[in-house]
Amino acid sequence: MEIVRTTKRISEALAEARAKGLSIGLVPTMGALHAGHKSLVDRARAENDIVVVSVFVNPTQFNNATDLATYPRTEEADCAMLQGCGVDFAFIPTVEEMYPEPDTRTFDLGPVAEVMEGAMRPGHFNGVAQIVSKLFAITQPTRAYFGEKDFQQIAVIRRMVALEGFDLEIVPCPIVRESDGLALSSRNVRLTAEGRAIAPAIHRILRESVALAGSGADVAAVADYVRSSIAATDGLELEYYQIVDALTMQPIACWNDARQNGAVGCITVYDGDVRLIDNIRYF
Ligand code: PAF
Repeated sequence: MEIVRTTKRISEALAEARAKGLSIGLVPTMGALHAGHKSLVDRARAENDIVVVSVFVNPTQFNNATDLATYPRTEEADCAMLQGCGVDFAFIPTVEEMYPEPDTRTFDLGPVAEVMEGAMRPGHFNGVAQIVSKLFAITQPTRAYFGEKDFQQIAVIRRMVALEGFDLEIVPCPIVRESDGLALSSRNVRLTAEGRAIAPAIHRILRESVALAGSGADVAAVADYVRSSIAATDGLELEYYQIVDALTMQPIACWNDARQNGAVGCITVYDGDVRLIDNIRYF
């Protein structure tokens, strides 16, 4: 595995691969890699000739300076994991390398980016679009892999790809969970022991809500169940819970509203000062 620090080197290496007709799988990450990332890398490895993983904590997508400062950075361990997964290139640029000048682009991301994370974290998705579009332009991958834990992010990236006219396949990959149901996240390492103990309640409540929906409850009753169950759980504080159309990300009023694309419940919860996100499919 080659560790690459410059955009010049990674573009040249991948241009060479493309000239030979090789397919390129890109896994964009912010590092602090865990088994969830590994599942993306393994999938990319199985489906492409060349695999490149970017490790870059992108400052333009953080709207909170403390969140950016405390984001875990574990480059040595990340490289060891990537090497073990048979990755060809680990692209690990500095902020100056990725942003030699401030990125002033504003993407017209539309309604998919206005709700939930978009409403709670102003500017976040524009920052994601900035960095992912740069990575796509630099690496020109055949396929790019994203975890479904950040469900809305995938819809936003699809929109950015359509706006910019990138010719590549977006591959969504299922959430990987701890055995007790907690969705793997780089932020989990910041949970206190008490916070870690209570965190699996999020997925348990979501699963119970799927059972409730299966027994005939309507959208409002299911959403109420999730909101009130989280509120009743000591140590968790709900930021939002929305049941949305799986493609448009718009809240639905009845199950029939999502009959074409499916319905997903998206949740963000504070567990102490750690912001956890998760989601579940109703159909
Ligand atoms: O999901 C993430 O880790 C980040 O938002 C991404 C896609 C790597 C862009 O910085």
